[in-house]
Amino acid sequence: MSSPRLRIAVQKSGRLADKSLEFIEAAGLRIVKGANELLYRIENAPIDLLRVRDDDIPTFVGDGVADFGIVGRNVLEERVEGEKPIEVMALGFGRCDLRIAAPKDFMYDGPQSLAGERIATSYPNILRRFLKKNDVKAEIVTMRGAVEVAPRLKLARAICDLVSTGATLETNGLAATETILESEAVLIQCRGPLSPDLRPLADSIIARMRGVSASRGAKYVMMNAPRVRLPEITEILPGAGAPTVTPLAGRDDAVAVHAVCQESVFWETLEKLKSAGASAILVLPIEKMM
Ligand code: PRP
Ligand code: ZN
Repeated sequence: MSSPRLRIAVQKSGRLADKSLEFIEAAGLRIVKGANELLYRIENAPIDLLRVRDDDIPTFVGDGVADFGIVGRNVLEERVEGEKPIEVMALGFGRCDLRIAAPKDFMYDGPQSLAGERIATSYPNILRRFLKKNDVKAEIVTMRGAVEVAPRLKLARAICDLVSTGATLETNGLAATETILESEAVLIQCRGPLSPDLRPLADSIIARMRGVSASRGAKYVMMNAPRVRLPEITEILPGAGAPTVTPLAGRDDAVAVHAVCQESVFWETLEKLKSAGASAILVLPIEKMM
């Protein structure tokens, strides 16, 4: 009998497809793109990637056909049938928001403005929950795509659709109002138990993916600083825990400060550090983190 392999469902084509593969490679898994379009094998671990339509990913993972999946939170939240997979973590790419939008002359003043209106969307379940939560009675028109043309065709007064750059809304003379779901790619997992043989592999994949998403955007910052101004300098560093402070040879008044910043380090931050007496400030990318 062949040994078990971990199965990860990924989007075959579309908004997250390439980025999902890049993310998997960043976690150290070498993808072999063979002749089989439906299944890519991982060369250096017993893992298969099942390449499917994104709408099918929550179903595959929910039913245990795949152990894990990478999918937009919007797709996960829209699904209502069957066992719902667990969202293990957000992966930090493919960000987009599900928003209510309407022609620019529509006076939007909170969810109640939608009462009695028709709203076109490809996300009827998420929209229904939003309307219910806000106690708004409105009609939902479900469309598979091209939702943004619905107001012009008088099919609906407003829409509820994904907004990334905002270009689609702009082209169609629509303005976004409420955000009803903040989405990005997430790692999802089947609720059922994993084969014990695969548990250590699954744990290591999760840890690596956590590391990849944490290290992206994070920076390693080094500088020299006057010892007396350390509290001030620590305060300025964005999203850093306790920094590492080491003595500088031959100097009692100054120290070297090293810190991992989880948030973007802007020029303004460097200027503030300089004003606080820091010198020789270096900002370095982080390749891996665990
Ligand atoms: C989404 C959405 C908009 C567009 C928004 O469609 O439905 O059409 O992206 O992006 P923008 O704000 O950057 O213009 P998607 O590309 O996912 O394809 P689909 O509508 O065909 O599913
Ligand atoms: Zn679209």
